[in-house]
Amino acid sequence: MTDRVRLGVNIDHVATLRNARGGDHPDPVRAARIAREAGADQITAHLREDRRHVRDDDMWRLKEQIALPLNFEMAATEEMVAIARRLAPHSACLVPERREERTTEGGLDVIANRALLTDAVAALTEAGIRVALFVEPDPAQLDAARAVGAPVVELHTGRYCDLSGEAREEELARIAAAARHAAAIGLAVHAGHGLGFDTVGPVVALPEVEEVSIGHFMIGEAIFLGLGTVIREMRRRIDNARAGL
Ligand code: PXP
Repeated sequence: MTDRVRLGVNIDHVATLRNARGGDHPDPVRAARIAREAGADQITAHLREDRRHVRDDDMWRLKEQIALPLNFEMAATEEMVAIARRLAPHSACLVPERREERTTEGGLDVIANRALLTDAVAALTEAGIRVALFVEPDPAQLDAARAVGAPVVELHTGRYCDLSGEAREEELARIAAAARHAAAIGLAVHAGHGLGFDTVGPVVALPEVEEVSIGHFMIGEAIFLGLGTVIREMRRRIDNARAGL
């Protein structure tokens, strides 16, 4: 068990906000810089097939400008594997991707996509990229992840975060059992999706979990922790300009 669980910060939704206006603000690379200063261990960005948030040039700027390991979240498509091999990020997390989904819904079906994933994991590994597969906390999927050659699994915590009460406890027990199983068969264990202040604790208390990946909650919460500061700064500038300062 490591003393310190690594925190990967996903900056996708800074790009979502930027793209709403089509300009350059807010810049996800600036957010990554703040994440680094605040103690993030890694930056994660998901380059989706439809480029709905992060764009190709963001990935390159993150790689070149941010002195932290870059985790490339991606679908196991030919296009993305080729981009990842050129970019050579520290790591890649393979996720299922459907155009109509709002976010990554469910983990990879590694069992049904064995051949495709074996090839993708091999191509990425050959380029020096550490590959994780994003999977449900299901022992059969973990065995398949091991079989296709991935060194890491990221356990999907979305269901655990969406549930409450006893059902949440049951899902946490499923995640805990999956983490133990994954470690026992030689996989490194990461976790992520949907985590926030109220849900992160029990997940990082699992001794096998080495890293968590968190995005949407922190970007959203930053509005509430930061909006007052920004409004006060705007007030100050308006007042100064009016006073001829
Ligand atoms: N891990 C994976 C594999 C994901 O697809 C996502 C969402 O992009 C996350 C972690 C982060 O999830 P959230 O934005 O809900 O914190």
